[in-house]
Amino acid sequence: MAAAGRAVAVALLLVAVLCGVGLRLSDAIGVNWGTQLSHPLPASTVVRMLQDNGFDKVKLFDAEDAILGALKGSGIQVMVGIPNDMLADLAAGGKAADNWVAKNVSGHVRDGVDIRYVAVGNEPFLQTFNGTYLNTTFPAMQNVQAALVKAGVADKVKVTVPLNADVYQSPTGKPSDGDFRADIHGLMLTIVQFLASTGAPFVANVYPFISLYADPNFPLDYAFFQGSLAPVVDGGVTYQNTFDANHDTLVAALRRNGFGNVSIVVGEVGWPTDGDMNANLDYARRFNQGFLTHIASGQGTPLRPGPVDAYLFSLIDEDRKSIQPGNFERHWGIFNYDGTPKYPLSLAGGNGSTLKPARGVKYLDKKWCVLKPSADLGDQKVGDSVSYACGLADCTSLGYKTSCGGLDTKGNVSYAFNSYYQTMDQDERACDFKGLATTTSVDPSAGTCRFIIEIDVGAAANIISAARGVTAGAAAVLGAFVLSMLL
Ligand SMILES: *[C@@H]1O[C@H](CO)[C@@H](O)[C@H](O)[C@H]1NC(C)=O
Ligand SMILES: *[C@@H]1O[C@H](CO)[C@@H](O)[C@H](O)[C@H]1NC(C)=O
Ligand SMILES: *[C@@H]1O[C@H](CO)[C@@H](O)[C@H](O)[C@H]1NC(C)=O
Ligand SMILES: *[C@@H]1O[C@H](CO)[C@@H](O)[C@H](O)[C@H]1NC(C)=O
Ligand SMILES: *[C@@H]1O[C@H](CO)[C@@H](O)[C@H](O)[C@H]1NC(C)=O
Ligand SMILES: *[C@@H]1O[C@H](CO)[C@@H](O)[C@H](O)[C@H]1NC(C)=O
Repeated sequence: MAAAGRAVAVALLLVAVLCGVGLRLSDAIGVNWGTQLSHPLPASTVVRMLQDNGFDKVKLFDAEDAILGALKGSGIQVMVGIPNDMLADLAAGGKAADNWVAKNVSGHVRDGVDIRYVAVGNEPFLQTFNGTYLNTTFPAMQNVQAALVKAGVADKVKVTVPLNADVYQSPTGKPSDGDFRADIHGLMLTIVQFLASTGAPFVANVYPFISLYADPNFPLDYAFFQGSLAPVVDGGVTYQNTFDANHDTLVAALRRNGFGNVSIVVGEVGWPTDGDMNANLDYARRFNQGFLTHIASGQGTPLRPGPVDAYLFSLIDEDRKSIQPGNFERHWGIFNYDGTPKYPLSLAGGNGSTLKPARGVKYLDKKWCVLKPSADLGDQKVGDSVSYACGLADCTSLGYKTSCGGLDTKGNVSYAFNSYYQTMDQDERACDFKGLATTTSVDPSAGTCRFIIEIDVGAAANIISAARGVTAGAAAVLGAFVLSMLL
């Protein structure tokens, strides 16, 4: 009797523990939802896609009403972002932070949006920003925190700042020697002290792809999670992948400065699928699945065993992102522009169910725009037209070792024409190019190169002159870039 009772109790305990572990692990995966698209899916469609796939956390770069509204009652936890260009205002004091919190946090929280964090700025200390946000980030954090307290939501909503992994480093390359970057050391300690005092996490973005992009000698296998021929030996620990090493460099930096118990959230982690020789479906899948399986194991990293809290970067490709960092920048999505999964990915790690597409997506007609077969490639108008098209639309899938890198010259021109035509919602004036172009109902896609049909975003479609916010300057730069590839 007693033994049976004990067995039942043990079994129940086991179930409880397993459920607890299951919950904790599935709790751990979030995703970044960026919105720099010419044709965004409706927010409600995206929220349903998040739910269908079991994402229970989302990170936003801005506080868009339509998106926060769609997240109402969804059960999805939200990290809402403040763009860097608002930091100066929020730092200046006055009513700016109170107003921001009232409009963009407390109202939504009352409406049932589960906001947990405010991300004040986005990677504001990136070295490429030349120190622009060094003086404003922390005061803005303090003012937003004070405003949250005043609004009575500070218990639930924490203030943090997503930082690029370049704010910490190790002089020897060994994680255990990690410390904060010398030029911002004092500022980092001030911020970490603030995080420790409010119980907010340190949010770090970790990008093995960028390490590889920046250094062709970076050992490729060290980026993935299947062991490396070039592991980093650090005392008694051998690091087999750069994610663990990078994460633990931060853990060491926190410990060294007396904040070993500040929690860490990986704000962005991912791999792009196009626009660079190392950005492809195979590597992206290998990295993302490797990462997900790694964290699903619950083992954590050598210096921080246990669950890892992370947001994948990113949800959907964004054809309006700046390509200043590189052409891959528009291809970080685990989903294509239309909410179709790019490759099978199991969020739960291992062999669990793979990504499900967005439901109910409406497309434009099955029509493409291509170069007329009779067109003369020697015609100066061809080059000019391609520059123009690629200046206003997205041609980042053209290039050395990209998905459309194998096209011939005519294919290149057609790709550019179609990209523009779709961006302009298949307006017939957008498939003319001085008589060089024609529409077709035969899909010109070939091999890995996909000629897309845009999604139907309805009334917002009348934009041929607005050109969706791309400046003439950017158009010229991009055009020149593409032209140089074509010739
Ligand atoms: C709320 O957030 C939006 C998006 O960032 C911003 O444009 C707006 O100024 C904010 N509202 C206030 C009152 O600060
Ligand atoms: C930073 O400085 C470099 C070199 O002076 C300049 O090219 C770049 O535009 C600057 N970036 C910003 C964001 O100000
Ligand atoms: C930040 O403050 C320092 C010291 O007051 C000043 O020298 C520097 O110019 C400021 N930087 C910016 C970008 O405003
Ligand atoms: C972390 O440590 C500090 C200082 O020892 C302490 O004040 C704080 O409560 C601790 N925080 C957590 C989350 O344990
Ligand atoms: C997934 O399934 C394959 C083949 O059935 C197996 O070899 C592999 O170990 C499984 N992976 C995990 C993480 O369970
Ligand atoms: C087409 O464009 C690609 C860049 O995507 C370039 O590498 C290739 O040489 C071009 N092909 C021809 C035949 O011009």
